[in-house]
Amino acid sequence: MDNLISKMENRLPQELLTFLRTAGEVADNQGQRLYLVGGAVRDLLLQRPNLDFDLVVEGDAPLLARQLAKASGEKPAIHRQFGTAKFRSGNLSIDLATARCETYSRPGALPDVTPGKIGDDLLRRDFSINAMAIDLTRNSFGKLLDAYGGLNDLEQRLIRILHERSFIDDATRILRALRYEQRLGFRLEEATEKLLREHTSMLDTVSGDRIRHELELNLKEERPERILRRAEQLGVLKALHPSLTGNGWLAEKFEQACQLQPLDPTLYMLLLIYHLTEEENEQLIARLSIVGELGRNMRQVLQLKPMLHTLAESDLPPSSIYRLLKHYSLTTITAFALACDTPIIRSRLELYLSDLRYVKPSIDGEDLKRLGLQPGPRMGKMLQALLEAKLDGKVNTREEEEALVRQWLK
Ligand code: CTP
Repeated sequence: MDNLISKMENRLPQELLTFLRTAGEVADNQGQRLYLVGGAVRDLLLQRPNLDFDLVVEGDAPLLARQLAKASGEKPAIHRQFGTAKFRSGNLSIDLATARCETYSRPGALPDVTPGKIGDDLLRRDFSINAMAIDLTRNSFGKLLDAYGGLNDLEQRLIRILHERSFIDDATRILRALRYEQRLGFRLEEATEKLLREHTSMLDTVSGDRIRHELELNLKEERPERILRRAEQLGVLKALHPSLTGNGWLAEKFEQACQLQPLDPTLYMLLLIYHLTEEENEQLIARLSIVGELGRNMRQVLQLKPMLHTLAESDLPPSSIYRLLKHYSLTTITAFALACDTPIIRSRLELYLSDLRYVKPSIDGEDLKRLGLQPGPRMGKMLQALLEAKLDGKVNTREEEEALVRQWLK
């Protein structure tokens, strides 16, 4: 399969095809060469949808983008200093980048970049299936460039790195490999798997932000539980933190989690850390440079865990369940409802999620004022007491609530 014109015509939206042809012609007129690269080529060949198109210019991408903006009427965002430009049209996103040659000064460092040829640009990529390009230049439009056997690997359903140092240069590829393997239903090519296992410790060379980013992308995939299971098998979880294990339990909980709608990927993180100690949890938070909402949720899991046994007490009124859980996020409570294996505790967590958290008294502060109460801490306490009475079924109607307030005020 040398020329992909008919595949492109069949699979790509007409508007995009026109854009690509125009872009190829404009590049040609400027004496530059233009290629479609990476995931878009892979997905075109696999007949999978993809709305992100990466173009590589052998020459100067901003120069092409400016000329193209005149020809197409589209307005790109141009970043001169990075040699890139971005066109957006509807939900299509088209990125232009100048072909680059990368070298790594040390493992895990961001690469040193110099302008290069398309061959250099493809060689710097992660896997053979992502290292193919389609020529868009006028006379060779549709011609496939496949120097690393990507097409063959697509047919054999293999994830293969391009050279032995690949995971050393950039260990985020370890997490990416797991992602593609499960997303596409492929498997790691034998030598690639061996090198991946050998180099899991290279994850230590990568910044927390970059690891977290790849991890989060993995958790957003359709079958994150499979990625996690593989991560465990290959020693990747342990490389992120020695106490992280899957041992089947996690995959089972992930499977239950992915039935939930809407699904918050944070939930997976909370299940992942469920068995960590507070100290281990803090180490992981620091390692992955986690801040904000996710960090708060991770800490909440460790805070709630020692209190959970109180939910097993017999004759526990709903108000006590509410009082314990109201301080925690819904994602944290959902994580416990999935992770906890004690039926009574689980049913009380579920009662909170499905029912108790929605309960509100019919009477509000305005009503209390009408009944003669001044705004202040006492009013807050009374609203709280009213809510608890309602949770416990002591009052059911507005009238009953009013009667109770009058009794308190006496
Ligand atoms: N790439 C790489 N090494 C990385 C990150 C990216 O070689 N650590 C290359 C791959 O060739 C990839 C391209 O850069 O195809 C774009 O990266 P990304 O947007 O992450 O991948 P896509 O294939 O576009 O997206 P996806 O696979 O998620 O559909």
